Amino acid sequence: MRVIKTPNTNQTRIMKTLLQFLPCPTPSEWVEAALMKQDLLLIDHANCEKKAASTAMQLMYRHTQKPDLLLKMSHLAREELTHFQQVVKIMSEKNIPYVHLGPSRYAKCLRQLITGNDNQKLVDILIIGAFIEARSCERFSAILPFLDKQLRQFYSGLLKSEERHFIDYLELAKRYSDVDIVNRVRKFSEVEEDLICGSDVEFRFHSGKPAKCLAC
Ligand SMILES: [Fe+2]
Ligand SMILES: [Fe+2]
Repeated sequence: MRVIKTPNTNQTRIMKTLLQFLPCPTPSEWVEAALMKQDLLLIDHANCEKKAASTAMQLMYRHTQKPDLLLKMSHLAREELTHFQQVVKIMSEKNIPYVHLGPSRYAKCLRQLITGNDNQKLVDILIIGAFIEARSCERFSAILPFLDKQLRQFYSGLLKSEERHFIDYLELAKRYSDVDIVNRVRKFSEVEEDLICGSDVEFRFHSGKPAKCLAC
């Protein structure tokens, strides 16, 4: 029998903040598939943490004249690498081999919207970062009540930093944009909703509603 823990006040507050930004909550079908595919979930989670650190590092290389970006991204990259280390440790304890797993369509589809001059491109990349962090945090929160004690404690411990990453990305996007980012965020939000609520043929940490064969 699954033990479902009641969310604490902090988790409830974080979810409220995230769902004011995200277009929709994670579908229950994704949570069900994730519980059946916890090995894949952890492998893709490790990949996402590694990629998040790498994206932050790339921004640091490209935007050396933006001190607040450098400070926030260097902090973020360190935290993401720590999370990567933690996932790999858990995988090792659970004897889950770190096999190769291709990325989901999520970030790739969002990145296809990047447009404009260098500064507009930077703002788009920062907005995408905000969506990835917000969705990751929302998914940790959605799934953690159903996980074993070790994973529940781990995912619960990630909520605070992932929420901060979301806020940092969004604040940087606002700071570097010449115009109000509300319309741009709306555009990404429409696509994000399709990616999360639309049917998806492969299961990943950021995949959509699983196609029927994934849940069987
Ligand atoms: Fe992380
Ligand atoms: Fe993060």
